[in-house]
Amino acid sequence: MILLQRSYTLFAPIYDALIAGPSAKVRARSLAPLAALPASDILIDGIGTGLDLPHLPPQHRYTGLDLTQAMLERARPRASDLDIDFILGDSQCLPFPDASFDHVVLHLILAVVPEPAACLAEAARVVRPGGSLRILDKFLRPGALAPMRRLLNPLSRRLATRLDVVFEDILADSANLAVIDDRDALLSGWFRLIELRKTH
Ligand SMILES: C[S@@+](CC[C@H](N)C(=O)[O-])C[C@H]1O[C@@H](n2cnc3c(N)ncnc32)[C@H](O)[C@@H]1O
Repeated sequence: MILLQRSYTLFAPIYDALIAGPSAKVRARSLAPLAALPASDILIDGIGTGLDLPHLPPQHRYTGLDLTQAMLERARPRASDLDIDFILGDSQCLPFPDASFDHVVLHLILAVVPEPAACLAEAARVVRPGGSLRILDKFLRPGALAPMRRLLNPLSRRLATRLDVVFEDILADSANLAVIDDRDALLSGWFRLIELRKTH
C-alpha cells in the first residue's frame, strides 16, 4: 500500500491531464441523481484530485477521503462553496462509525485498492440502510480471460490499479447490497457505472 501512496504522490501533478477529459461525461452521469436528493451526508471515497467536485450539488454535506496527501491537496481548491471535510485515510478501513452516511461515491477506487472486497464492505458498513453506493470503475466480466490485463496486472496493481477485479466476486462478500443499476460506461463496458442500495 505504501508503494501505491508513493505512486499517487508522483501521479498527482499529471493525474488531471490524463483522466479529467475522458472521465468527465461519465462522472456527470453518475453524480446527476444527487441533485434531486434532500440534504444528505455523502462520502466521496478515494476522492483523488477532486474531479468529482464540480459535479456535486450544493445542498449536501460531503466528506472526501483519500490515502494520498498530494491528491487531497489538489482536491481542496476545487471545493469552492461545497460543505466538505477532507480526511486522510484508508478506504479498506474507514475511520467512521457504522451508518455515518446516506450515500457513498466510489469512483475509480474499488479496483485500485489491494482488497476491493474490504473496500466495498467498508463502504456498505458506513452507509445507512436504504442508502446508495455509486460506483465507476473497470471490472472484468465473470469468466473473462482478458490475457493482456492479467499479464499487466502484477505490475499495474502495485503502481496504479488492479486490472483483475471481477465486480460480481467482490459483491458476493457483501450480503446487504442490492444492484439497482449496472451499465457500460467506457471502453466497451470495461468501465461500468453501478448503483447499489444497502438493503438492511
Ligand atoms: C485512480 S485515482 C481516483 C481518484 C478519484 N476518485 C477520481 O475518480 O478521479 C485513485 C485514488 O485512490 C487513492 N487510494 C489508493 N489506495 C487507497 C486507499 N487504500 N484508501 C484510500 N484512497 C486510496 C489514491 O491516492 C488516488 O487518489
